[in-house]
Amino acid sequence: MRNTTYIREIEKYEGQVVTLSGWLYNMRSSGKLRFILLRDGTNVIQAIVSRNDVGDEIFNRCDLLTQESSLKITGLVVKDVRSPIGYEIQVNDLEIVHIAEEYPISPKEHGTPFLMDHRHLWLRSSLQHAILNIRHEIISACRSYFDNNGFTLIDAPIFTPAACEGTTTLFETDYFGSKAYLTQSGQLYMEAAAMAFGKVYCFGPTFRAEKSKTRRHLTEFWMIEPEMAFCDLNGDMDIAEEFLEYIVQRTLKNREAELKLLERDISKLQNVKRPFPRISYDEAVDILKKSAEGQAFEYGNDFGGGDETIISAAFDRPVMVHRYPADVKAFYMKNDPEDASKALCVDVLAPEGYGEIIGGGQREDDYAVLLDKIKKHNLPVEAFDWYLDIRKYGSVPHAGFGLGIERSVAWICGLQHIRETIPFPRLMHRLQP
Ligand code: 4AD
Ligand code: MG
Repeated sequence: MRNTTYIREIEKYEGQVVTLSGWLYNMRSSGKLRFILLRDGTNVIQAIVSRNDVGDEIFNRCDLLTQESSLKITGLVVKDVRSPIGYEIQVNDLEIVHIAEEYPISPKEHGTPFLMDHRHLWLRSSLQHAILNIRHEIISACRSYFDNNGFTLIDAPIFTPAACEGTTTLFETDYFGSKAYLTQSGQLYMEAAAMAFGKVYCFGPTFRAEKSKTRRHLTEFWMIEPEMAFCDLNGDMDIAEEFLEYIVQRTLKNREAELKLLERDISKLQNVKRPFPRISYDEAVDILKKSAEGQAFEYGNDFGGGDETIISAAFDRPVMVHRYPADVKAFYMKNDPEDASKALCVDVLAPEGYGEIIGGGQREDDYAVLLDKIKKHNLPVEAFDWYLDIRKYGSVPHAGFGLGIERSVAWICGLQHIRETIPFPRLMHRLQP
């Protein structure tokens, strides 16, 4: 058995009899007519069952159908200007596959904990369906961008021997009697791969034991990470802005219907065109200090979510903030030769208060300096032997970044919380379903 006809491509079948397989989204009755809304995962279509056309036996089957029952309908595809998709089905036959038990999710309002407990069913709802279609588009656009620009996909491992992004958010696991950690980032491996392939990227799940309960943090999230040999911070920012423009504009082009369903203000996304403003950490602090809520900010600290919201509100497109104090950033970053207290790093802050979506920068490429940084961060030098090797055999300036998929989906969809941007979210207090 193989389903071959989908609602998404129904216009190809106008005037023909087709069989559609799906689930009952809703049904309305009116005398000798039943109006079935059939959902097949690609779209929803109205199917009209008339007692006069199908006879009593088939007609009576309709009244056995409950919400989310699965069924097959066979009928004629006709044009209908009132239908949101332009077509409806005049049913000749209807076969029940399974009668659903009382469906827990009804059109009435449910609280978020209830919906999260029923995430496996909630995915069928139209808004969740739209969000995950947009996620699919964004991921596909990310891959296309790198594939079409000479990058090679190099997968990074999930089990790792050491931290990349600080030891406080490591998930530790038992690895045959010794310790392994779930990866926080594939970056270190991409640096090795860039020396072998020039331009590379990895894309996979990454893990952070985030004890914060914010609308921007997951414990398991997906990150796409390019890394380029012979690239400095400016080159890195050029790629980051071209890449972001591409994914936003492609999503606008291909996912108009979904964005409309989510009531996204599209004009805000249309602005996402190069060049993006580039400001230093110092300039960002000036913006903060001029705002009422940002006055208390202490120079030298990293920006919190609230600070990022204030800074990004000054711009109508993503803003690239570079050269943070080296002390608040990761060990692998190269210091600015013009001011050694700053790191050659960049965070891209999304507009409309969505905060940091990209973190990256130029990497330390000097063996002795890097060794010193590893020691200063109290990291186990043995675990980084291989990483230090990259600086021994033809070391070159190199740079890269990581884009968080879920934060990007939240921003592009205009969602309040990150938990709806991933099919099965993992949060500090959520491991189910
Ligand atoms: O800024 P981060 O920590 O950078 C890195 O991991 C670098 N090693 C990447 C690189 O240069 N190759 O994380 C990058 C992005 C953030 O900007 C954010 O979008 C996302 O990953 N991110 C999270 N998303 C959801 N939940 C979390 N807990 C996240 N932590 C980071
Ligand atoms: Mg960061």
